[in-house]
Amino acid sequence: MLNTGSRFLKVNHAGEMGAVCIYSGQIFMARLTAPSLVIRLQEFREHERGHREVFRAELAQRGVPLCRSYWLCAGGGWLLGLITGLLGQRAIATTTAAVEHVVLRHLDEQLATLADQDPAASACIGSILVEEQQHHDEWEGLAGGHWAYSLAPLVRLSTEAVIQLGLRSLIDAPLRRASQVRRQPTGMPRRRRSPGFSPGQARQRTAGALPGSPLNRCAAPPPPPG
Ligand SMILES: [Fe+2]
Ligand SMILES: [Fe+2]
Repeated sequence: MLNTGSRFLKVNHAGEMGAVCIYSGQIFMARLTAPSLVIRLQEFREHERGHREVFRAELAQRGVPLCRSYWLCAGGGWLLGLITGLLGQRAIATTTAAVEHVVLRHLDEQLATLADQDPAASACIGSILVEEQQHHDEWEGLAGGHWAYSLAPLVRLSTEAVIQLGLRSLIDAPLRRASQVRRQPTGMPRRRRSPGFSPGQARQRTAGALPGSPLNRCAAPPPPPG
C-alpha cells in the first residue's frame, strides 16, 4: 500500500494534468474571446507543465503508477477550459482564481500532514507553491462581476469534489491499517510497516538528481507560502 506522501503526489500529478488542460482549453477559446490574456495563459500553462513533471519524476522514482483520475482530470479540465474560455476574460480569471484557491488550501494541508514524515514529497509540493500563489493572485485581480457569484462557487465545488475523490482512500487507509493491527490475536508477530520513504532515502534520491532535472526542485527547501 502506498504511503501518504506517494498518494498526495499521485493526486497532485493528476491535478496538474487537469490544470494544464484547463489552460489549454482557455487558450483555445481566448484567441477569440480574450486575446489579451493568451500570453499570460500560455506562460502559466508552462508553469503547470513544470509542476506536472515535478510530480511525475518523483512518482517514477517511487514506481507509483498514474492516478486513476488522471485522464478524468484531463478531460474535465479541457471541458472546463473550453466553456469558461468561451465566456470571456472575467470568466477565465474567475475560474482559474477559484481553482487555485482550492488547490493552495489543499497544498498547505498536505504540507502540514506530511511535516517530517516524507521530506521528498514535502519538497516537491513546496517547490510549486510560489507559482501557484502567483497564479491565484494575478487571476484574482481580474476576476469578479457576476461570475464571482454564479461561476466561482460552482468551480470551487467541482474542484473540491475531484480532489476529495482522489483523497478519499487517503483518509480510509490509516484507519483500515489500524483496525487490521488491532484484530491480530495476542502473541502474533506485529504487521511489518510497509516500506516507507525514510528521510535518509529521500536525501539520497534528491542528492542524486541531475542538474536541470525537475527533481532538483524537490531537493530545494520549500519556499515560504504566500
Ligand atoms: Fe500547478
Ligand atoms: Fe496553478
